[in-house]
Amino acid sequence: MDHVLIKAAQDALKNAYVKYSNFKVGAAIRLKDGSIIQGVNIENASYGLTNCAERTALYTAYAAGYTKEDITEMVITTEQDHLISPCGACRQVMSELMLKDVQVHMVYGENIKTVLNKELLPWAFSEDDL
Ligand code: THU
Repeated sequence: MDHVLIKAAQDALKNAYVKYSNFKVGAAIRLKDGSIIQGVNIENASYGLTNCAERTALYTAYAAGYTKEDITEMVITTEQDHLISPCGACRQVMSELMLKDVQVHMVYGENIKTVLNKELLPWAFSEDDL
């Protein structure tokens, strides 16, 4: 496991915009060229417009010109002392914007739970259904 990637997700926590929940989430994506892209949750007074850390990281990667072929793994972390896994909306986005076998590491403290992207949303709706 890439501890530099974990540190990047933890470092991102300070930038979370969590005015309403005070629940900070940090994410970091490793790319094939070695670079790392961070993401945090960004909330809004209109609560439903909140963007989760996972989606922020993915959208930032795509905005920089990367695509699913470039992404090798993702770390998600919080300040909590238990594991948190991606919400349903993020799973849907992750299933489209990352390859099926990308590793997703959920980290809290020294603990790491790793799953594959495809395990997070079996039977995902996809472009194949359109
Ligand atoms: N949140 C994330 O950023 N990622 C998740 O996987 C779960 C939830 C955020 C949304 C909101 O800002 C806060 O955590 C509490 O729900």
